[in-house]
Amino acid sequence: MEPAGADRLKDGIAGFYDESSGVWENLWGDHMHHGFYEVGSPPSVGGHRDAQIRMVEESLRFAGVSADPLKKPKRIVDVGCGIGGSSRYLAKKYGAQVNGITLSPVQAKRAQELAEAEQLSDLVSFQVADALDQPFPDGQFDLVWSMESGEHMPGKEKFVSELARVAAPGSTIIIVTWCHRDLLPSEKELKPNEINLLNKICDAYYLPNWCSAADYVHIASSLMLQDIRTADWSENVAPFWPAVIRSALTLRGFTSLLRSGWKTIRGAFAMPLMIQGYNKGLIKFVILTCRKPE
Ligand SMILES: C[S@@+](CC[C@H](N)C(=O)[O-])C[C@H]1O[C@@H](n2cnc3c(N)ncnc32)[C@H](O)[C@@H]1O
Repeated sequence: MEPAGADRLKDGIAGFYDESSGVWENLWGDHMHHGFYEVGSPPSVGGHRDAQIRMVEESLRFAGVSADPLKKPKRIVDVGCGIGGSSRYLAKKYGAQVNGITLSPVQAKRAQELAEAEQLSDLVSFQVADALDQPFPDGQFDLVWSMESGEHMPGKEKFVSELARVAAPGSTIIIVTWCHRDLLPSEKELKPNEINLLNKICDAYYLPNWCSAADYVHIASSLMLQDIRTADWSENVAPFWPAVIRSALTLRGFTSLLRSGWKTIRGAFAMPLMIQGYNKGLIKFVILTCRKPE
């Protein structure tokens, strides 16, 4: 992406989350990511927040992050931290120091307020910074965490290489993100109608071009990262968007949306497109974990 385009995208992302984070927190709380559900069993009433916590736990489990006092993570970076739901959860779970970065000044401020309210300011801190140019020295963190921020990154190679740069030798990197389906051996690109659907989603949620899980694996391998593993959790997240739409259609949801602004309302109109993308097998909800060599 051209530098001017990348700056426009960053401003768009910051503006989108500045405007919409309050609505999200009001309706859903401090985790701004999909929930993880048992396939085939309908979510319980009020079970969506539990499903979001389960997403964090399943991600840690998939990556094999140890809770053993001698092996548990001590320094964590939360890349694209939102209002810090994961950061505070991980800080409490492991007693770890967590640095969260986001493009949105409103999110960074709110994340810090919530940390103070939970008396966690000695463990967590938040700042406005770009994931593609992180304000940390090399090899700083023993857990590198990116929960649903990768889809916003205009250069996936640069994104993964920054995650790898700040990771300490031997540490774990977890990327949970939206991908498009893997291409078939006979395909060079997605079909025009698929590209068209993704473009509409990109416009609404300030996303650059998407990539596939296979592309991420290729990038991680080329950076010599080890133990690269992926899973497709699309079926496990299937109840999420219908639940978000239902919450937007309540009186509280509707009034919060109206008060928020155009960017948030446009995002709400795009929610059915996400469901369409999943139903067509075009959108995949992917976890990729790997380890930086010792
Ligand atoms: C869907 S929210 C996820 C928030 C959080 N990880 C969570 O699960 O609650 C996406 C986040 O990615 C952040 N983000 C997107 N592009 C970024 C970039 N280039 N640098 C830092 N943060 C970025 C946004 O500011 C936002 O906080």
